[in-house]
Amino acid sequence: MRVFEKDGHRAIWGDCIEALSALIPDHSVDLVFADPPYNLGKVFNGKREKWESLEAYLQWCYRWMDLCVLKLKPTGSMYLMNSTQNMPYIDVHLRSKMTILSRIVWHYDSSGVQASRYYGSLYEPILFAVMDPDNYTFNADSVAVEARTGAVRRLIDYRKPKPALYSSRKVPGNVWSIPRVRYRMREYENHPTQKPEALLQRVIAASSNEGDIVLDPFAGTFTTCVVAQALGRRSVGIEIEEEYIKIGLRRLSIASEYAGEKLRRPLKTYELSRTQPSQLEFQVRDRARWNTRSRR
Ligand SMILES: C[S@@+](CC[C@H](N)C(=O)[O-])C[C@H]1O[C@@H](n2cnc3c(N)ncnc32)[C@H](O)[C@@H]1O
Repeated sequence: MRVFEKDGHRAIWGDCIEALSALIPDHSVDLVFADPPYNLGKVFNGKREKWESLEAYLQWCYRWMDLCVLKLKPTGSMYLMNSTQNMPYIDVHLRSKMTILSRIVWHYDSSGVQASRYYGSLYEPILFAVMDPDNYTFNADSVAVEARTGAVRRLIDYRKPKPALYSSRKVPGNVWSIPRVRYRMREYENHPTQKPEALLQRVIAASSNEGDIVLDPFAGTFTTCVVAQALGRRSVGIEIEEEYIKIGLRRLSIASEYAGEKLRRPLKTYELSRTQPSQLEFQVRDRARWNTRSRR
């Protein structure tokens, strides 16, 4: 395990169960956002995530989930993502440890044909759970959205003791339509399941305050920590793949170099043609070095 740290943001290179057990004090975290591998056979940095059975996968999930619960403060909250098929098991387990307040649907559009003989999936479920339903952070105002019903038509709500215009702002419902990260987006990184910053903005703004500690045990491209940093929170991200740790170090400005390699955002194909030769050379050299290393 290796820890990189700067200005209240920690990137831990290692296995989440080991790191949670060894490096995170119990009852010290305000908010956990957990987006683990879903046991669907996705490839992360050349390694396929697939457990020998559903039971083995769930047992692994229960271990890190229990550790995350242990690390939360009594006022803490957790958001947990998984596939539609695994979520019922995860839900039942989490329910025995925390109070689940919302079952959120992250809905997105698909760019291509997904399925022709069944209904393709256009959402991922997210659980929102708290340790204590009578004492938890929820900053409704900072995530309020426009209310599209009565307020837009300037209707009067006569059910109130003193009739008044319908409120024009409301807390979002549990269906969140947020586009997935696309190649042309500025935030895009080379990772198969990067989550959008907009999704994390809502989670972190609602369920933590400035200076709070936000923990992501499966940091990937470190979206959670990047958004936490932008919102003035502290963060801890744990990630097992060195390639993704490098993304985290760069995105969080923890380091500009790693083992002699300059950490730069890779240029997009359409940026390459506009690039000065020197920059292009750097990128070709970095890529060649990385290819040599990954063949070892
Ligand atoms: C679904 S992705 C997370 C994506 C992340 N939310 C983002 O926005 O980029 C899951 C990540 O967990 C990492 N991972 C898998 N097993 C791990 C483990 N045992 N400990 C820590 N990280 C792990 C994978 O390398 C992958 O980057």
